Amino acid sequence: KVWHLQGAEPAEEEQWIQEAALCLAEGKTVAFPTETVYGLGADATSTEAVESIFAAKGRPSDNPLIVHIAHREQLDNLVLPYNELACRLMEHFWPGPLTLVLPARPGAVSPRVTAGLSTVAVRMPDHEVALRLIAASGKPIAAPSANRSGRPSPTRAEHVETDLAGRIAGVVDGGSTGVGVESTVVELDGDRIHVLRPGGVTLDMLAELGAPVTVDRAVDPTLVAAEVATNHEHSGQDNILTESASAENETVSIESNTVNIDSADIEQLPPRELVVEPAKDGQVSASKPDAAAPRSPGMKYAHYAPQGTMYLVQGDNDQAVSAYIQADLDDAKQRGEMTGVLTFHEHADRYRADVVVELGSLQQLEQAAQLLYDALRRFDEAGATYIAAETCPADGIGLAVMNRLVKAAGHRLVRVP
Ligand code: TXA
Ligand code: MG
Repeated sequence: KVWHLQGAEPAEEEQWIQEAALCLAEGKTVAFPTETVYGLGADATSTEAVESIFAAKGRPSDNPLIVHIAHREQLDNLVLPYNELACRLMEHFWPGPLTLVLPARPGAVSPRVTAGLSTVAVRMPDHEVALRLIAASGKPIAAPSANRSGRPSPTRAEHVETDLAGRIAGVVDGGSTGVGVESTVVELDGDRIHVLRPGGVTLDMLAELGAPVTVDRAVDPTLVAAEVATNHEHSGQDNILTESASAENETVSIESNTVNIDSADIEQLPPRELVVEPAKDGQVSASKPDAAAPRSPGMKYAHYAPQGTMYLVQGDNDQAVSAYIQADLDDAKQRGEMTGVLTFHEHADRYRADVVVELGSLQQLEQAAQLLYDALRRFDEAGATYIAAETCPADGIGLAVMNRLVKAAGHRLVRVP
């Protein structure tokens, strides 16, 4: 069942929300929009209801779920008393794309939600429909992204239908989501904010609170290094970090000290031996001694992935990157591949491929976040079998975009000198 809220009268809209909320209260699964991506919701207190989320998604059961709330009062039933920093984070970022991992009140939600951990992840989405639905259900709502496991997250109701039609009770269609990538997941280590997953709330935004911010090593260390370097570069200038620090003695810094930046840790699988050389006329051309397709990603990296083989191409010289990509796509085309390229508006007219998808302007990475998952799905719709993707700076929301792109590409990354 699809509850279309677009263009509905207020009374009708209220009726659809009540209907969907009743489904949730009865232990059924309902997909709904949030400001990040569509979630697949179920009553977090019911093990049976939560199990139907895992079943519908085909999700491994050792991956815990985020519990969504509509009011701060709901929180006290879910978690043990928390510190002042947690309080400030909620005041600052809720409702909004920040998920807090806090010590769970025993028995408050089904153990299937927390995957047996002693903590629970909680967030209050910044979306009117989501908040009304959760409130009307009268339950804390466990909700992972409403995609089949491994697929790009849904940013439109049609994406949910493509993946989950027939497997869930219904979808509340509230149009496109805003942010486009998932919430930032953080845990607190005393007065330190530790980022487990980059998302809609950026590292800079977190650092504005004045507490040290660290990033988990599970987040690709090269991305974090780039982000941290950028921020250090800026510090001392007209810096958002120092500007916002009210007390003079507050230390505001983004540290990467839990990330051991060691290139040996990073899995990089260049698809083939790569030779890129400047041609005589000053243009850059790429030649590849071995045109074999990239190796398949390991199963544990199969997240957000399009069905075709995707890889990222990165380099300081964007002309060289484009030349490499075009030469490689031409080869792929000759092998009979259906080719795709993921690019930015500024570079889009450089490419000849079966499917060219733009992520908006490189100057506006919020657009890239918004468009990313729909873009990845477009390759599947067009049947692309071989996809090259440009990268963007891992700065601000770009960190979340690059984190998802690296996963979608199964960690395959070519660096063009
Ligand atoms: O924006 C979002 O967060 C979306 C919308 C629907 O709210 N939800 C979402 O859920 O992205 P999901 O299940 O796709 O991602 C949940 C993330 C996973 O990375 C999971 O490992 C982490 O949160 N997580 C959940 N509970 C946790 C816990 N107790 N400790 C550490 N990480 C946890
Ligand atoms: Mg997900």
